[in-house]
Amino acid sequence: MEYSRVIRIETVRTCPIIVGANLIDDLGECFDFSGYSSIVLITDARVNKLYGQSVTAALQTTGKRISALTLPVGERTKSLRVAERGYRFLLEHNTDRQGLICTLGGGVVGDLGGYLAATYLRGVDYIQLPTTFLAQIDSSIGGKVGVNFGGKKNMVGSFYQPRAIIADVSFLKSLTPAEMRNGLAEAIKYGLAMDTALLQMMERQANEFTTAELVDIVRRCSALKAGIVEADETERSGQRAILNFGHTIGHAVEAVTGLQVRSHGEAVAIGMMAAARISEQAGMLDSNSRQRIEKVLRKYGLPISCREASPDDLLSAIHFDKKTTAGQTAWVLLRGIGNGVVNQHVTDNMVKDVLKEICR
Ligand SMILES: NC(=O)c1ccc[n+]([C@@H]2O[C@H](COP(=O)([O-])OP(=O)(O)OC[C@H]3O[C@@H](n4cnc5c(N)ncnc54)[C@H](O)[C@@H]3O)[C@@H](O)[C@H]2O)c1
Repeated sequence: MEYSRVIRIETVRTCPIIVGANLIDDLGECFDFSGYSSIVLITDARVNKLYGQSVTAALQTTGKRISALTLPVGERTKSLRVAERGYRFLLEHNTDRQGLICTLGGGVVGDLGGYLAATYLRGVDYIQLPTTFLAQIDSSIGGKVGVNFGGKKNMVGSFYQPRAIIADVSFLKSLTPAEMRNGLAEAIKYGLAMDTALLQMMERQANEFTTAELVDIVRRCSALKAGIVEADETERSGQRAILNFGHTIGHAVEAVTGLQVRSHGEAVAIGMMAAARISEQAGMLDSNSRQRIEKVLRKYGLPISCREASPDDLLSAIHFDKKTTAGQTAWVLLRGIGNGVVNQHVTDNMVKDVLKEICR
């Protein structure tokens, strides 16, 4: 186990996050499998091809009965239809309450597998082995599990903490540059909204990270998210809203342009740039800081403008999002770099002005 570090989230359940390289070789040292009757590995077809065999072999050293459910790749897997397939698989493989689900994959597998764990037999234990950068620094942490429903994302689900998160950065080597950028946008988000030192680190580093640097970024982002989750596990006090920096306009970009045009990370980058400009307009951020944000986004190949959408369409999408989330959409602005704040006083005119700049 190289560079191994452990962070602990203390909520209704204690959940260690183990970050390191080549952790799979010593899975038994990362988690105590002894109390479980069987292990169900849930993954998707692409990850299975890359890592299914090695992870299964590592799990076999526990001496437990192992079965593996391989799901189709992509967002459509996060559905009740696929969840039903999962329940049937668990039942057919005689998974009882002492069974352990082990998710191996990106956010899709983690959200779906966690949802199965939360609901099958009123809840069985699960651990997350996130394999995308985004999953390692964001989606595997915090216990938000669920599926999409009625054409909307994450409509059905629960807050259900895993027993452990094992983030092995060795998995990240096989990600495409586009998948890597999805995670990089979120890492920059943590830096801008919460951690100046993290941002400085990302500004300094070359685009090709060493293993030690990757472990450092994943550990740092995980600790930031863990801190927020501990303070606001079920998103009631509003503290968790800070993690939505860049996501209000980001979601609108996704809705208007479609994911074929802009990936999630690209949409969030555009959203962060827009939020920075709104912060500047509100007198909270100076223009040097705004330029610094442009520079770091460009450095990682992330966009800072969106010519594919019109300001009016984006504004309508923001209004629609607000309606369908019962007004929960909160603007997160920057009171300087590293200091995200929730702001209720953003007017449509401010947003429109900024969208005109962004869409030019
Ligand atoms: N639960 C949360 O708090 C939370 C937070 C953010 C996002 N999400 C959810 O996460 C999902 C997106 O996650 P994602 O970006 O990881 O997408 P994903 O799970 O679809 O994975 C992206 C692609 O990468 C492939 N892949 C995964 N690991 C790989 C590896 N190591 N090497 C090569 N290819 C690999 C997958 O097969 C897939 O094709 C969305 O459904 C989103 O709603 C959840």
